[in-house]
Amino acid sequence: MCGITGCISNADITSTLMNSLSKLEYRGYDSAGIAVATGNGLTVAKQAGETDGLRQSITANEPVGMLGIGHTRWSTHGAPTDENAHPHTDCTGTVAVVHNGIIENYDGIKSELQNNGHEFTSETDTEVVPHLVEQHLKDGVDPLTALQKVTERIDGKYALAMVTTHRDAIYVARNGSPLVIGVDDSARYVASDVPAFLEHTKEVIHLEDGDVAVLEPETHTVFRDGKSVSLEPTTITWSTEAAEKQGYDHYMLKEIHEQPDALASAIKPRLTSENAVVFEELDQSFFANIDRIEFVACGTSYHAALYGCQLLNARGIPAHVHRAGEFSSYPAAIDERTLVVAITQSGETADTIESIHRVNETDARSLAVTNVVGSSIERIADKTVYIHAGPEIGVAATKTFSSQVATLSLLAAYLTPTLGSKTASNSALLSSIAELPTAVDTVLSTADSEYVAQTLVNRPNRFFIGRGVGYPVALEGALKFKEITYEHAEGFAAGQLKHGPLALITPESAVLVVFTGDHDEKTVSNAHEVRSRGATVIGIGPDQADGPRRVCDEYIGVPSLTPELSGVLTNVQLQLIAYHCASALGRSIDRPRNLAKSVTVE
Ligand code: F6R
Repeated sequence: MCGITGCISNADITSTLMNSLSKLEYRGYDSAGIAVATGNGLTVAKQAGETDGLRQSITANEPVGMLGIGHTRWSTHGAPTDENAHPHTDCTGTVAVVHNGIIENYDGIKSELQNNGHEFTSETDTEVVPHLVEQHLKDGVDPLTALQKVTERIDGKYALAMVTTHRDAIYVARNGSPLVIGVDDSARYVASDVPAFLEHTKEVIHLEDGDVAVLEPETHTVFRDGKSVSLEPTTITWSTEAAEKQGYDHYMLKEIHEQPDALASAIKPRLTSENAVVFEELDQSFFANIDRIEFVACGTSYHAALYGCQLLNARGIPAHVHRAGEFSSYPAAIDERTLVVAITQSGETADTIESIHRVNETDARSLAVTNVVGSSIERIADKTVYIHAGPEIGVAATKTFSSQVATLSLLAAYLTPTLGSKTASNSALLSSIAELPTAVDTVLSTADSEYVAQTLVNRPNRFFIGRGVGYPVALEGALKFKEITYEHAEGFAAGQLKHGPLALITPESAVLVVFTGDHDEKTVSNAHEVRSRGATVIGIGPDQADGPRRVCDEYIGVPSLTPELSGVLTNVQLQLIAYHCASALGRSIDRPRNLAKSVTVE
């Protein structure tokens, strides 16, 4: 959802800026642009399309300078055109700004500025910022004060970076959109996310909402509530390689194959050799008197929440799941006995963040489950649990879903003694959690998904069905499929087909059926219902499953774990099926059209 970057150093920074933009393209790729202070003013290069196009355009005439900012865009206000690409400048061309977020009151400000003679060249909300800065500079204030005054005037969410010809510094401000400073010996970086500068430094400072900062090559000053504050950098543990493709054709395929390691990182520190669950970041007292858990999440994380909810309900712990986009406007009734659990890979999803803001207005407690250390959700939730999946660059979430489910499984087991029913048992669940990384490794070594994917390419529609934990997996399988293939796919609870969607089944349809080893006989009946109407039935489920195998045209077996966790394995097969189909169709797998990884607008 737009990536911003900036660099100031004692050497030329243009290629650094361009490399940073490539690393941020997962946040948006509608247009790209840079502004470099060359010593002879600001040189701005920007155009519609991906970073590579911009790179080619500037090759012959690359700006040379030691400070600059860059932007890769996911359009909100204004179409993805050259004019709407960032950076945006003021009338004098001496102020350039990049922005991630939305300025809600830009319309009124724009009219006022136009009445004062300012000419605008784009339809974006962002363009008001350089013009407002220009006005303040004309009044004789310095660029830092000018930016501070602008932040007092604008409403909404923003991460802003600004360069001017008035002083060799980068000015940044954060409110509701992520912004991280990278600290090196003789360079300072700023970006929406750490991978943008990970090859240069792992020392980072996470800015908070309301912060404004000034960066120079060897110093940085952060202002909080108007006063400069001294913040020690923290060291990022992600390796540079973790954020690279490492020989895979796509980040998505690499991340699918990283799942055994990602799962081990989520599980090993929390599961003792005696199968006891430990969450260092939690304390059982935090859950005292909780009688209900409400999940909020979006997209893939919502599916992980549905999965986790089933595990809690199975242990007698009342739990429900809400789409964060709904909850943030129409919250469920919650009180001091409610725990709201926000699941978000990025920790930046606006709907999920807003939901927790709503929770914070009540007496309910909140827990975030996220992958990104220092993300916005961590700052507003009462407690945070990390899934430790490592960086996920592919827009389609893969390894983070598995790690979310593994973390929620551990959490369900952890909460059972205090919140669950007296008769609930965790022994099968915990043994299977311990086996999960190896079992996923086995799934990754079977090649069936590539073959099955061929049979799904030329179809008018595909349906994914499942029961129990197979239901969120069916939803997730369909989401992944449509996201990266651009082909129609829908997920349903297996028993729901006969209540309507069955009307869509024709001999051209393909139905992917998720079996778990639990209540499979009912799901077999649902498979018969579609097969008797001519659909091709593809089953994915435990290896030892005679009934399911007999009803399916094709069947992909996965190792047998407790049914509660077999959904993680079948989901890996569905990820691979979606990947191979998208690859056969020549789609942009890591950067599907219209999507961005981090959705920071509501
Ligand atoms: C799907 C996908 C999205 C995200 C959703 C929530 O592959 O990636 O549906 O799951 O936008 O994102 P997070 O988990 O960052 O809150």
